[in-house]
Amino acid sequence: MAFEPNPPVDPPRPGGVGAARAPAGVPRHVAIIMDGNGRWAATRRLPRSAGHRAGIRPVRMSVEECAKRGVEVLTLFAFSSENWRRPPQEVGLLMQLFLEAIEREVDELSRNGVELRFIGERGSLAEELRLRMANAEARTRGNRGLKLVVAVAYGGRWDLVQAARRLARECADGRLAPEAIDEARIGAALALGDLPEPDLFIRTGGDRRVSNFLLWNLAYTELCFVDALWPEFSAEHLGAAFASFAARQRRFGMTGEQVEAGPC
Ligand code: FPP
Repeated sequence: MAFEPNPPVDPPRPGGVGAARAPAGVPRHVAIIMDGNGRWAATRRLPRSAGHRAGIRPVRMSVEECAKRGVEVLTLFAFSSENWRRPPQEVGLLMQLFLEAIEREVDELSRNGVELRFIGERGSLAEELRLRMANAEARTRGNRGLKLVVAVAYGGRWDLVQAARRLARECADGRLAPEAIDEARIGAALALGDLPEPDLFIRTGGDRRVSNFLLWNLAYTELCFVDALWPEFSAEHLGAAFASFAARQRRFGMTGEQVEAGPC
C-alpha cells in the first residue's frame, strides 16, 4: 500500500497542542474502539479468533484512509486493561496477533512515513511483545507522516493513576509544588500528553459507551457510534464519520454566536 502525502499545512485550531496540520474540517486526532469481532465471528459460526483475524483489514484501511485525509494521529484501542478477564486462549491469540501484525506491517508503515507508538501497561505484557513494540517504535521514530498509537493493556483509569503517581513523585522530590498541579500538567503526564486531544471518537459494534478509553482526553471529543461490527467497518463508514464530524459545531463551552464570530 502506498499512502498519499499529507495535505498542506493549516493554521492552528482550538482543541489541541501545537500547530494543526490537518485540513480544516478534518479531525487532527481520531480515536477508535474496534468492537464487534466476536459477534462477527459468531454470526458466521466461526471461532472468536476468526473475528479478531478479520479485524486486521479495517485496521489497515483506517490507517491508509486517515493518512490520505491528512489526519495527524490515529489511536486504536486494541486491548483494554479489562480484556485480561477474557479466556486465556483468546488473550493468547490476541497477543499472538499483535506480535504478527507488528512483524508484518512495521516496514511498510515506516516506508509510508507512519510513526508507531504503543500506550498501556507494558509491564503486564510478555517480554517478547514488549521488545517488538520497542523495536517497532525505534524503527519508526521521527517519521513525519501519520502517528499511529496502539493502546494495548490500556485503560483510562490506569492512565490517570500513572499520571497521578508521576506528579506525586515530582512533589515528593521537591520538583513540583502541589499548587502548581493544573489541568495542563495532568494532561501532559498522561500517555498521550504530547499529542493533540482526540477530535473524533468512533466506536463500532453498536454499543454506546467509552469503556475506560482515554477518559480525560475525551472531554471535548465528538462521539460517533457505528452499528457495523469492526470486521465490516469500511472506508464508507469512516467517510460518513468524517462527514458527520465536519458538519458539527464545536463550541468548547462558548456560544454558537461566539464560535461563528471567530477568534477575537
Ligand atoms: C473487540 O471485539 C476487539 C478486540 C478486543 C480486539 C481488537 C483487535 C483487533 C482488531 C486485531 C488487530 C489489531 C491490531 C492493532 C493489529 P470483541 O471481541 O469485544 O467483540 P464482541 O463485542 O462482538 O464480542
